[in-house]
Amino acid sequence: MPRIRFANDDLTVQVAAGISLPQAANEAGAGLPFGCRAGTCGTCVVTVLSGEENLDELGFVESDTLAVLGAQGPGRRLGCQIVLGEGDIEIAWDE
Ligand code: FES
Repeated sequence: MPRIRFANDDLTVQVAAGISLPQAANEAGAGLPFGCRAGTCGTCVVTVLSGEENLDELGFVESDTLAVLGAQGPGRRLGCQIVLGEGDIEIAWDE
């Protein structure tokens, strides 16, 4: 079972592989904000500080939204589009 660290909250939890980041954040009580949960509003931009190799690839909608926001860069993802794999990850978000 992967562990996820929500850096802004200094919170680390163990979750089931294959669940979405919004579900993990909700279960953990993390403060990561979400809006549309569909990859279009940009509320949930995160930086994956470690473990990016454990996540699926950027999707088209996610990539397009990050480009529109000017938020592309190493580790930059939309939290609502992340599905957790088998490995640990650490994320942070802009506040
Ligand atoms: S919550 Fe809207 S893009 Fe993620």
